[in-house]
Amino acid sequence: MLQSKIGGIGHYVPEKIVTNDDLSKVMDTSDEWVRERTGIEARRYGEKHKETTSSMGAKAATIAIERAGINKEDIDFIIFATLSPDYYFPGCGVLIQRELGITKTEIGALDIRNQCSGFIYGLSIADQFVKTGMYKNILLVGAEMHSMGLDYSTEGRNVTVIFGDGAGAVVIQPTEEADKGILTTKLHSDGTYAEKLAFINPGSHGGYHFDKMGEEKDFGYPDKDEYGGIFMTQKMIDDDMHYPNMEGQFVFKLAVQKFPEVIMEALTDAGLTPADIGMLVPHQANLRISQFVQKRMGLRDDQVWNNIQKYGNTTAASIPIALCEAWEAGAVKDGDLVCLAAFGSGFTWGSALIRW
Ligand code: UT7
Repeated sequence: MLQSKIGGIGHYVPEKIVTNDDLSKVMDTSDEWVRERTGIEARRYGEKHKETTSSMGAKAATIAIERAGINKEDIDFIIFATLSPDYYFPGCGVLIQRELGITKTEIGALDIRNQCSGFIYGLSIADQFVKTGMYKNILLVGAEMHSMGLDYSTEGRNVTVIFGDGAGAVVIQPTEEADKGILTTKLHSDGTYAEKLAFINPGSHGGYHFDKMGEEKDFGYPDKDEYGGIFMTQKMIDDDMHYPNMEGQFVFKLAVQKFPEVIMEALTDAGLTPADIGMLVPHQANLRISQFVQKRMGLRDDQVWNNIQKYGNTTAASIPIALCEAWEAGAVKDGDLVCLAAFGSGFTWGSALIRW
């Protein structure tokens, strides 16, 4: 049976650094609050109207393709994970294909809408395609340009201070080396609390809505019962209904439960234990969550990679950016057991074990 491996990895973060102090100039927040609650010191913002989610993804992808030792024309499938796409549709998969200039090969492109766990879902899909022999060089990208869609008023501060922009990419290839590559992936979801961390408008539910805490509420938007709903109205914009919302403490409590659970599930499946982990790369949601998971799993500091301090939460991009940095720093070496884990909106969560 074929195994799949990460044959090349790259990342890109935009130049512009936005500190907590910068944000405190436009909303009621402080460096102290943000550092204490999240560990975040700064984040990067893409250049407005010049950079996009797919253009940042293309920069990361170019590095990953080169490091995989292939030409971009060798890519035979694209998977793109993001919650902040260039367009509502079409997805970023075809846009990055165009940006990379590989439309002639007419390869398939798939978009993933699994938010923070999008990269792990993508990795699992790529793993299955490679294992069956269907594809040999899958480009998997996680990228976000959150900065264009956040609420910079004090009302949006609990969400806005957390997020940043960036992109990471890998090329998934077959390997014949025994016990190398992706050992297992575990994927989960529970839609019960879909609105607890969500970007609700615009959407096909047009006509009735949820309040910022995810409770269904009739805001009196027109056309509730008429043929043809309202996708987006001026009133929704006036009422600031077009921003992401999150019930932070609710998400936090579930995250610290699900991270260890799904990591242990993967380890048990592979007949391994936390002590075998060379590097845990958790989705960078909140440094406090990562620290809690580290403690719960009994891991040393050198077994966990965190970079949320510099970049904030870059959602689908956070794992590939962190993994790339860890590898570039020499903290992930040949033969190491790498564990990836994520939890986020949906809720969706997952883990992956890779023998590097
Ligand atoms: O990657 C996707 C998954 N997301 C997560 O995993 C996020 C999980 N949740 C969290 O990381 C935390 O819940 C947050 C960092 C989002 C918030 O921290 P918290 O300790 O849970 O704060 P809170 O939402 O309970 O708010 C506590 C107080 C409130 O004020 P009052 O009502 O006590 O007066 C908030 O209004 O802090 C206030 N607050 C802020 N103050 C200054 C909320 N955001 C801010 C802010 N600056 N940015």
